[in-house]
Amino acid sequence: MRLDVFFTPAEVRPGDVSGRVVVVVDVLRMSTSLAIALENGAKSVVPVESAEEAMTRSRQFERGEFVLAGEQKMFPISGFTLGNSPQSFTAEAVAGKTVIITTTNGTQALLGVQGARDIVVASYVNFSAVLAMLRAAARANADISIVCAGNEGNFSLEDAACAGQYVRAIPKRLASVVLNDAATASALIGRRYGINLAKVFEDSSHGQALTAAGFSADLEAAAAVDSFPVVPIFQERQITRLGPDRSR
Ligand code: MLT
Repeated sequence: MRLDVFFTPAEVRPGDVSGRVVVVVDVLRMSTSLAIALENGAKSVVPVESAEEAMTRSRQFERGEFVLAGEQKMFPISGFTLGNSPQSFTAEAVAGKTVIITTTNGTQALLGVQGARDIVVASYVNFSAVLAMLRAAARANADISIVCAGNEGNFSLEDAACAGQYVRAIPKRLASVVLNDAATASALIGRRYGINLAKVFEDSSHGQALTAAGFSADLEAAAAVDSFPVVPIFQERQITRLGPDRSR
């Protein structure tokens, strides 16, 4: 089986996702927020391209059935209930509701993936839950593509480091796994940082920008490995948790 990493969505060609299990990673902060929202009882999360589209989509729901969330240049969007701070997706804010979200990179990366067998959203807070699903897929010989959301078209260290931890863990005890060069590079980055996520975020430009903007609590939330053990699956324009009530 193939295990490929793409450091930015722009590198992904249709053949890299078609029929594969695709993993979208935006550790800071969309993947993390999304996992926390679902684990805290959100009915579903709907990623959209823009604030305008979020408003339009919300008209399909009754008042009280949805929450608007997202960021522009890291800050909450005017008129939206939630920004993109992971810890703000509390049960009180999202339980039983559809979260309509738009972000700079993460939601765009998700919306760019077409034709995959499954699309799963990964971060550190749901690392092992997603890993178990990916190892089962790898044992069944499914090809896997890990797409890093990156930062406005550029490489982002925190996504590459997280992808690298998956690349190190997925092939264990599997006979033949073929990596692309980005997968090999991400594994080296993952090995270099290990579980020192504070250091990953300290070295990353987006981590530095979030800290400078007053969002250091968000970095702590994103570094809490396995604190929200959910497998978010993107299907039919919405993300829900994989479970007995959700078939793939
Ligand atoms: C994004 O999707 O671009 C991010 O999650 C940005 C952020 O909110 O820090």
